[in-house]
Amino acid sequence: MSAASQLNATLRQEYPAVARMLSPLGQRAAFPRGIPFQAAQAKKAQINATIGQLTDARGQSMPLPSMAGLIPGLDRERSFLYSPVAGPTDLRQAWLARQRRIAEAPDARVGLPVAVHGLTHGISATAALFADPETDVIVPAPHWGNYDLLFTMHAGARVVTYPFFRERRFNVEGLADRLAATGGRKAIVVLNFPGNPTGYQPRADEVAGIVDVLCQHTGPSVVVCDDAYQGFAYEPGLAPRSLFWDILERSDPERLVPLKVDGATKELLFFGSRIAFLTHPATGAAEAALESKIKCVIRGTVGAISGPAASMVLQTLQDPGLDEAFAKRREILAGRYRTLKAGLTTLPSSLVPYPFNAAFFAMVGLPPDVDPEAARLLLLEEQSLGVIALAGSHALRIAYCSIGESQIPELVRRLATVG
Ligand SMILES: Cc1ncc(COP(=O)(O)O)c(C=O)c1O
Repeated sequence: MSAASQLNATLRQEYPAVARMLSPLGQRAAFPRGIPFQAAQAKKAQINATIGQLTDARGQSMPLPSMAGLIPGLDRERSFLYSPVAGPTDLRQAWLARQRRIAEAPDARVGLPVAVHGLTHGISATAALFADPETDVIVPAPHWGNYDLLFTMHAGARVVTYPFFRERRFNVEGLADRLAATGGRKAIVVLNFPGNPTGYQPRADEVAGIVDVLCQHTGPSVVVCDDAYQGFAYEPGLAPRSLFWDILERSDPERLVPLKVDGATKELLFFGSRIAFLTHPATGAAEAALESKIKCVIRGTVGAISGPAASMVLQTLQDPGLDEAFAKRREILAGRYRTLKAGLTTLPSSLVPYPFNAAFFAMVGLPPDVDPEAARLLLLEEQSLGVIALAGSHALRIAYCSIGESQIPELVRRLATVG
């Protein structure tokens, strides 16, 4: 039996939903017993002549002085030598500990998060393993536009949408209808709360309904919680944690695979880091099997994560002042949020703000006769105001994360000119 067939047999036994959801690529994937595998085995050998990296006689790095001088505060070996393919174990453990603490889920059963090159890569690895032309990828409209590329470019999956809002809250009925319409085909549901471009986090009393719909679905499904903007919420009464944990508690391993994609990008305000994590619910033999497949995809595409960025993230996770420093920055954003929220109430009635309460964004609906792209260009050229046109939603997206609070009244004044 091939290595991949053995992994598939283990998954059929231990986590049937994973086995049912695998794409043809996912079925073939198995981390090869190649250089990283053999080098990891030889790590403690007296003479380790396995890996292609320049080290001294004690296995220590030999960086160029100009580079070594740039990172005196970082761990030199981690920064200059290769990371393991799934990321350094202590970094993965520290990330999981943080996620459990934030979610108040100390005993939740999950595998060790696998480190990936940004959330984009976490979603791309998910698409590689689970999406194919027989898969419906269910996303709300609007959604982060990159989901289209991530699920169609290589995997050729079918992206299907439902309106994000219904009566100014998340359209759980639309999600349920879309799931029902799969008729038992494989489904991948992407949830992105707080969301881009909506800036919306469901209220706490919306959570049970969403989890019910996902957990009652009988066809096999993967639910990807894209938690890029975790922690950025500005109103009382909102869902206090990622829906991943609520879905995990109720999911049936015969039918549903919840996945959590999160990372340093927004959550640690380290946008250039390309450090993120893919967390799955498989433990024991199923974890080893699924992790082998994820590592195969990492090895077969971009390789292990960047050492300096990984070192910075680990040291930051160990900083006792992290939560306080983050809270200060979130408060700055909350100030911009409140000022924008108040400002948008002064817009002409033809410009209709969508509900928003979290993340970095607000959406404003345009009058029916105003083309979003034309409005965007007009604002750029005549008002020197840059915003994003959302053609499908007939709206504009304002990223208030990237402007100062004092600029917001002027932004609103200029925006009003397209009303
Ligand atoms: C919803 C959402 N997911 C993922 C990403 C990408 O994250 P990363 O830069 O870590 O790939 C973004 C970036 O804007 C995003 O808005």
